[in-house]
Amino acid sequence: MEPKEPISLATALDSFSELWSPRIVTAVNDYDVRVAKVEGEHLWHTHDHTDEFFLVLDGELRIALREAGGERTVTLPRGSVFTVPRGTEHKPSAPAGASILVFEPTGTMTVGDRHEEVPGHVDATTGHALT
Ligand code: NI
Repeated sequence: MEPKEPISLATALDSFSELWSPRIVTAVNDYDVRVAKVEGEHLWHTHDHTDEFFLVLDGELRIALREAGGERTVTLPRGSVFTVPRGTEHKPSAPAGASILVFEPTGTMTVGDRHEEVPGHVDATTGHALT
């Protein structure tokens, strides 16, 4: 990628207010580093071709998972990381709100390759540029 200036994640997060609508802060090879503000529930979806990495920057994120052994929910307090394996149906949520960083291949859709009906409060996107 082209050389740029350092990016403050706090400044990046302050630059937008939309929920479940990630902004791309930088790229690493063919991966995007995205930040998002989230609150309430996302939707059940599956990424068939990639793992998905989450880092909680602020607040608490929950990720419900449908695995071979059944359904469970992992809770990620601030500073925690979790990787959803490819092919695992999952639904993030944040009852009290959170700011998160997601690391995944450029072009990955927020709603995955397969998903339930997209609710109006969720942005189905591959991420937006920072402005
Ligand atoms: Ni996902």
